Amino acid sequence: MGFYLDKVVPWGRSFEEYVAMFNLSDQDLKCRILGCGDGPAGFNAELTQRGGKVISIDPIYHFSVNQIRQRINDTYDKIMEQMRNNKSAYRWTSITSLDELSSIRMSAMETFIADYETGKAEARYIEGELPYLPFDNNSFDIALSSHFLFLYSSHFSEEFHVQALLEMLRISREVRVFPLLCLDGKPSPYVREIMARLNEGGFQAEISSVSYEFQRGANKMLRVMPG
Ligand SMILES: C[S@@+](CC[C@H](N)C(=O)[O-])C[C@H]1O[C@@H](n2cnc3c(N)ncnc32)[C@H](O)[C@@H]1O
Repeated sequence: MGFYLDKVVPWGRSFEEYVAMFNLSDQDLKCRILGCGDGPAGFNAELTQRGGKVISIDPIYHFSVNQIRQRINDTYDKIMEQMRNNKSAYRWTSITSLDELSSIRMSAMETFIADYETGKAEARYIEGELPYLPFDNNSFDIALSSHFLFLYSSHFSEEFHVQALLEMLRISREVRVFPLLCLDGKPSPYVREIMARLNEGGFQAEISSVSYEFQRGANKMLRVMPG
């Protein structure tokens, strides 16, 4: 497996954050949803509790609950220190302080940890890596990528992004990606070119504003649907 837990910095967002980042309506939440790179987010656990149909895929699901919990504990102080040092890169309006951020993120990750073994047994947490998804064509209605595609544009090539998005569109009717910025807060250099390539390929790619903004300027998602 070309992936090691000691390179991952686990940091999971909450159900409410997913709903806001992706403009998920009540109708959307009744759809078959795939979360790509969900890591230790609380979205799958909470949506499942609410009766939703959701599967998450991530390479860290190779690891046991104790290994993931340990990695969260080992990296927590470092992440919080980075947040403290880069405080001005974030908008402290809906999340108002570092303490509140810590509490929201830890609560989301605890929700994930408490659900992980059950969710694995129910095949809701599946080990895998974009750009390959182990699902049949049209298995989902909405495929999401939160804080993976575009955010890591300095680590993954434009071609990787195109292959990942086409694979998500193979298995899902619609794809939504948030944010469209890189880790340094600048717009991903890939977004415009990739939108043009998808539109030329017969898809309809558009940028929508969302109500969520924590990383400054990160308040838009990419939506891709059949043309
Ligand atoms: C910053 S975390 C985001 C977690 C979650 N989506 C959220 O927003 O809270 C990025 C996640 O991408 C996962 N990841 C890394 N490479 C991946 C790949 N090739 N395919 C899918 N996920 C990947 C990591 O394991 C990690 O859990």
